[in-house]
Amino acid sequence: MRIAVIPGDGIGVDVTAEALNVLRSVGEVFGRRFDLHTLPWSADYYLQTGVTMPPDGYARLREFDAIFIGALGDPRVPDNRHARDILLGTRFELDLYVNYRPIRLLDERLCPLKGRGTSDVNFVVFRENTEGLYVGVGGRFKAGTEDEITVQEELNTYKGVHRIVRHAFEHARTAGRRRLCMADKSNAMPDGHALWQRVFRELALRYPEVDARHLYIDALALLMVQDPSQFDVIVTNNLFGDIITDLGAALQGGLGLAASGNLNPGRTSMFEPVHGSAPPLAGKNVANPMGAILSVALMLEHLGLREEAAAVESAVQHAVAARQGTSDIGGSLGTRETGDCIANVIRGAKA
Ligand code: NAD
Ligand code: IPM
Ligand code: MN
Repeated sequence: MRIAVIPGDGIGVDVTAEALNVLRSVGEVFGRRFDLHTLPWSADYYLQTGVTMPPDGYARLREFDAIFIGALGDPRVPDNRHARDILLGTRFELDLYVNYRPIRLLDERLCPLKGRGTSDVNFVVFRENTEGLYVGVGGRFKAGTEDEITVQEELNTYKGVHRIVRHAFEHARTAGRRRLCMADKSNAMPDGHALWQRVFRELALRYPEVDARHLYIDALALLMVQDPSQFDVIVTNNLFGDIITDLGAALQGGLGLAASGNLNPGRTSMFEPVHGSAPPLAGKNVANPMGAILSVALMLEHLGLREEAAAVESAVQHAVAARQGTSDIGGSLGTRETGDCIANVIRGAKA
């Protein structure tokens, strides 16, 4: 398996090291070869070379079996240009239209909600990943003056909405997660989101076994906090999906635990923790690597290595239960020690 690795910026570098540490333990234990190619694209690389990503960058990424990204974002690049090219660029150029973000509480003690247990917080979010407000259509006129005018357009296409909503319905059917909720803001955005409504209604008819429900995104945010147990599968647009998956991360114990896959089923896909580069934590051996490690599990599963993926997930679960983790989840280990602990659990479990 050839894997491209972009550690990126800040704690992206710290957590990627531990994600790879764990991947190596999986390789040893299961006798698999992971051929890792680290790519330097980052804020440092941009500031040194003036290049965010080389012109053949996306074509090179397509040649791999999977891509792993740490995080991108650096205060020295205030316009975030490099992150747009590397992270959003990869999502767009490789047409990774499914942003798959499972929200699962591994230990009751990590949930910020009173009286909620592991069975209450266990759902998946499918975030549209190639359109919406992220397409970069718009502009600034008279920037920096009191006459400044800006436009930032939201783009929704039938094809784009259909493929993500269909993917969510398929998942609901095949994974036995019967309840699907589509969230939009069609009350305030009747043009763009009427398309989401139409597609949702069309598909709901084709999946009678799925219990399909619509919520406005603001109501969904409320209900995620009030009673998250009512959700199995949520599908929404790019920006709303970004926001509610940070909210979901909070329900599962924080951003340090949240994992994601950026998928184009059957094609090269990309895996990354949900969190950012957390500049204040960078290089201090304090960032939680579990979100990155769980993203490795998603990657292994996507590559068809089910047993390997399950081993990684259960090792993380074991570490969380044993309080072998970083301070954000109540542990006293560093980033590296947490990675070592999880890698050793994988080695031990198979021995
Ligand atoms: P962030 O996710 O970096 O941090 C938000 C909060 O969560 C901070 O308090 C941080 O300390 C904490 N946190 C995040 N990850 C953690 C971890 N693994 N362990 C422990 N605590 C963790 O978000 P931000 O501060 O809004 O953004 C910082 C930079 O990251 C910005 O440049 C932003 O654009 C970028 N960003 C990148 C990605 C990505 O690469 N996918 C995602 C989000 C933000
Ligand atoms: C995420 C991040 C990115 C996004 C940023 C860094 C552009 O917040 O992956 O959730 O908004 O998609
Ligand atoms: Mn985000």
